[in-house]
Amino acid sequence: MRKEENKIMNQSQITCWCHEIIRSQAPTGGFYIDATMGNGNDTAFLCSMAGTKGTVLAFDIQKRALDATTELLEKKGYAGRARLIQDGHEHLDQYVADSSADVICFNFGYLPGGDHSIATSPQTSLIALSKGLAALKSGGMMSLCIYSGGDTGFEEKELLLTYLKKLSPKEFTIIENRYLNRGNHPPIPVFLFKK
Ligand SMILES: C[S@@+](CC[C@H](N)C(=O)[O-])C[C@H]1O[C@@H](n2cnc3c(N)ncnc32)[C@H](O)[C@@H]1O
Repeated sequence: MRKEENKIMNQSQITCWCHEIIRSQAPTGGFYIDATMGNGNDTAFLCSMAGTKGTVLAFDIQKRALDATTELLEKKGYAGRARLIQDGHEHLDQYVADSSADVICFNFGYLPGGDHSIATSPQTSLIALSKGLAALKSGGMMSLCIYSGGDTGFEEKELLLTYLKKLSPKEFTIIENRYLNRGNHPPIPVFLFKK
């Protein structure tokens, strides 16, 4: 098992698995996008992959997320490695050229510890996903953590999975994972690779 910061990773933490897969599949020093910044854990991870040569863009609609992420990046010594954007990921194409990104991370839902009523929404998530596909370079990958439950979570999950299932296998390899023995609608990690 790979060690993260000198500790065995927490196997029940879905984001840890996502980071492991990204680390094993994507180049370091590339261009990475965190489409749902939240408290900055994925942004910080992508900054560690970016090193001093790569670039990270991170999106969130909440100022609170940008503040928390700024603080985390400073604490980890990554200040200046990421550009934090307070805007919806559905506008991703205004900031990112087509076929440019090595990795795009989506971690849908609400800000942990924040206002649960401010969460990703089915229609904007779908727009962001389709724009993300265009932004990925050939050989690039996307990691999606899809949650269900709450007011819109089930609709979002169905919409995203239905959309992903219809994508051509000639263009994308898409792998859906699941927890077999966890109740309460566990998150669904999906990994997508652009050919
Ligand atoms: C589950 S949290 C992300 C967790 C985060 N990646 C981390 O490492 O802490 C989901 C985030 O998506 C944000 N969000 C909601 N709608 C959004 C949108 N349209 N564009 C970008 N972010 C959005 C929420 O504000 C929330 O902070």
